[in-house]
Amino acid sequence: MGSHICPWWLAYTFDNRFRNFFHNPEKMLGSYVTEGMTVLDIGCGLGFFSIGLAKLVGEKGCVIASDVQSKMLSILYKRAKKAGVSNKIRIHKSEPDKLGVETAVDFILAFWMVHEVPDTNILFRQLRSCLKPNGRILIAEPKFHVSLKHFQEILVSAKESGLNLCETPSIRFSRSVVLKI
Ligand SMILES: C[S@@+](CC[C@H](N)C(=O)[O-])C[C@H]1O[C@@H](n2cnc3c(N)ncnc32)[C@H](O)[C@@H]1O
Repeated sequence: MGSHICPWWLAYTFDNRFRNFFHNPEKMLGSYVTEGMTVLDIGCGLGFFSIGLAKLVGEKGCVIASDVQSKMLSILYKRAKKAGVSNKIRIHKSEPDKLGVETAVDFILAFWMVHEVPDTNILFRQLRSCLKPNGRILIAEPKFHVSLKHFQEILVSAKESGLNLCETPSIRFSRSVVLKI
């Protein structure tokens, strides 16, 4: 793995029991994700949001939890089982430059992951191609790692890949946007 990738053990510093107070999935994502949706959590890490999303999509929905690190995915699976939502989560191992998701999705979450990707144009083109026509993508980047200038460069890359700014939600410790086709 590249040195810019967050190692699995470091993810516990932010993905812990206190996180619900500042990144509550229901409050943060409830207006974008409804029952029955198929959603993609790209760069899902230890699965904090995948589990929250699984509760939002309900019995008929599905969450594709995708990451480049197998260790993240195996911990996520154990946590999802414990939370009783493993039947709604499809674990997917992606490659740094190859998403490999063929399913059309209603919503994509890319939380604190885009800055770890070597080529954002490739990522955004692949995300766009699996997004349904009315679908939306929420991108949040950590303020402590990603400067405003860097975030603006990320948005230029998204725009060049055919993704347009739709909203700028307020998310703690993050620079965030919602994009659509
Ligand atoms: C800082 S962690 C954030 C994890 C999770 N989204 C969260 O907020 O708890 C970034 C994650 O993105 C993953 N990642 C990095 N590059 C990726 C890529 N090209 N495709 C999929 N996942 C990637 C890393 O393995 C890591 O698990």
